[in-house]
Amino acid sequence: MMKRIQTIGVMTSGGDAPGMNAAIRAVTRAAIFNNWKVKAIYKGYEGLINNDIKDFTTESVSNTIQRGGTILKTARSKEFMTPEGRRKAYDTMQMHQIDALVIIGGNGSLAGAQEFAAEYDVPCIGLPGTIDNDLYGTDNTIGYDTALNTIMDCVDKIRDTATSHNRIFFIEVMGRDAGFLAQNSAIAAGAEAAIIPEDTTDIDQLAQFIGRGIRKSKNSSIVIVSEKDGGAMHYAERVRKEYPEFDVRVTILGHLQRGGMPTAFDRILASRLGVAAIEALKEGQRNVMIGVRNDQIVYVPFSKAIKIDKPIDKELIDVLNILSI
Ligand code: F6P
Repeated sequence: MMKRIQTIGVMTSGGDAPGMNAAIRAVTRAAIFNNWKVKAIYKGYEGLINNDIKDFTTESVSNTIQRGGTILKTARSKEFMTPEGRRKAYDTMQMHQIDALVIIGGNGSLAGAQEFAAEYDVPCIGLPGTIDNDLYGTDNTIGYDTALNTIMDCVDKIRDTATSHNRIFFIEVMGRDAGFLAQNSAIAAGAEAAIIPEDTTDIDQLAQFIGRGIRKSKNSSIVIVSEKDGGAMHYAERVRKEYPEFDVRVTILGHLQRGGMPTAFDRILASRLGVAAIEALKEGQRNVMIGVRNDQIVYVPFSKAIKIDKPIDKELIDVLNILSI
């Protein structure tokens, strides 16, 4: 028989993402609403291993919904990848009488939860928290919309200087192995092209395309490049070498993409997912990621969320191609 839940632990893990605080707040308040106790675990799995844990009340999460980053701090724990590390984590859970865990994080964090749940009898619920939007089974991850808007703002600004100097800008964005940020920011900012890991890019074709635009009417071009495979520098160098007539510049947006106040979309998504995490535990769910598909809450087994590649809609690739003529 399953143990009745009285106390849950909540943590953020992996790269921080805007909206994580809104998720922590929702999990905390929904659990307390349900008369459960909440233990806040700091620095992800590291906090479980090292007993970095505090009791949370509804006030602990006041005035946090609008803040970027994560009030619980975060880490990518190497020790949790070892059986000894997971044993220590389990012992800490026992000490605090934590009956279930809610983990807010990306691929690696949910993979850790899956492994932990396979070894110990601990119900784990995952919330997709990453700017990369690369978790299968949910239309959006917490933080993706905010990062997308941040990138769009930056590209809008770069366009001002690009047009003033008649330059070609290669702008590198994050996304680890996924092109969602690159593809959709390219559409939103009206860029000429996006280079993403899910699609092949022929450098000659790209240069011809930029050249054609410039000969026609455009005096500048913007290409968004996903960070994988050498990123913006790699493509800029090749174009520079083979087409010296182009005045090429590179901007790497870097970690600024992870910061800032979450958008309304991310706050609402995080709030819904946080409440749904507690509902899922009440229903006896375990080892699932909570997602939203077609605006409906869904439960996605960890094995699917982390193992299956989330495809980029081909239609998005077509839209950018058509609109950048
Ligand atoms: O997964 C989120 C992410 O920001 C990726 O887009 C990026 O590749 C990575 O984390 C960067 O990690 P770090 O903050 O450790 O440099």
